[in-house]
Amino acid sequence: MDLQLKGRPALVTGASRGIGRGTSKILAAEGCKLAICARRKELLEEVADEIEAEGHARPLIINEDVLPEDAPNKIRDQLFNAFGHCDILVNSAGGSRSIPWDTGDDAWDEGMSLNFEAIRRLTMALVHSMREQKYGRIINITGSSEPKGVNVANAAKAAIHAWSKGMSRALGRDGITINSLPPGRIMSEQIIERVHPDPQERAAFADMHIPAGYFGEPEDMGNLIAFLASPLARYINGEVIHVDGGMRRFAF
Ligand SMILES: NC(=O)c1ccc[n+]([C@@H]2O[C@H](COP(=O)([O-])OP(=O)(O)OC[C@H]3O[C@@H](n4cnc5c(N)ncnc54)[C@H](OP(=O)(O)O)[C@@H]3O)[C@@H](O)[C@H]2O)c1
Repeated sequence: MDLQLKGRPALVTGASRGIGRGTSKILAAEGCKLAICARRKELLEEVADEIEAEGHARPLIINEDVLPEDAPNKIRDQLFNAFGHCDILVNSAGGSRSIPWDTGDDAWDEGMSLNFEAIRRLTMALVHSMREQKYGRIINITGSSEPKGVNVANAAKAAIHAWSKGMSRALGRDGITINSLPPGRIMSEQIIERVHPDPQERAAFADMHIPAGYFGEPEDMGNLIAFLASPLARYINGEVIHVDGGMRRFAF
C-alpha cells in the first residue's frame, strides 16, 4: 500500500526515545520531510544518524523543551523555515506521573503542562497552516483511561481525548483529522527504566494482563501512526484507538 507520505512535512515530538523515536524512523522510511524534537540533542543526533544510515533523508533536529511559554512559536519557526508548513504533527512528548492522592499543586501543574497544555499549545501553533493547506494530521499519544491510583497523566490524557474530539468536529471540513492513541505497554525509556524495570516482573505482567503475551515495540505504534498520517485515513477523525495487544477489557 502506498501511504502517499512522500515529501509531506512532519514533526514528531518526544523523538529522542520510545514511541516518538520508533515513529520517526517509520515516517522517514515513508519519505516524509521529517523534523524531530526533544531536549536531549545527542539522542536526536543519534536518531538522525540511524535514519541516514538506513538510506533516508536526515531529519531536521529541533532541540527544544516543549514546556516554556515560547516553545510552540520557537518550534514552529524552525519547522517553517525549513519546510514552509506542516502536514503531520505527532505529539509523543510526555510521561506518566503517578503521585500520592494528596500531592500539592506543583506536581499537578507540571504533569498537566507536559501531558495536556504543551500538546494543545503546539497544535494551535501549527494548525492554522494546516487549514491553509487543507491538509492536516494530528496524532496524540495519550494513555490509559483506567486509573490504578492517582496519576496526573491519566487526567491530562483524558483531557486530550475530550479536546481532540472537539477539535475534530471544529476542523473536519478543513481536511484535518485529529486522533488519539493510548498505548498499552510499549517498550520505551519510561517503561524500561521507571515503570517496569525488572524483566521478570515485565514477563509476569505480560503473561497476566496482555492477551498478546508480550510488551509492544514503538514500531507497533508507528505503523498505525503512519497510516493515520496518510491521505488514506481521511475518514478516521476524533477517535481514540488503543494499541495494546488486547490489554484493555472494555468493549466500546
Ligand atoms: N510506553 C508506554 O507503554 C506508554 C503507555 C502509556 C502512555 N504512554 C505515553 O506515550 C508517550 C510517549 O512515551 P514513551 O513511553 O515513548 O516515553 P519515553 O521513551 O520516556 O520518551 C519520552 C519522550 O518525551 C520527551 N520529552 C519528555 N519531556 C519533554 C519536554 N519537556 N520537552 C520535550 N520533549 C520531552 C523525551 O525526550 P527528552 O527527555 O530528550 O526531552 C522522550 O523523547 C507519553 O505521553 C507517555 O505518557 C506510553
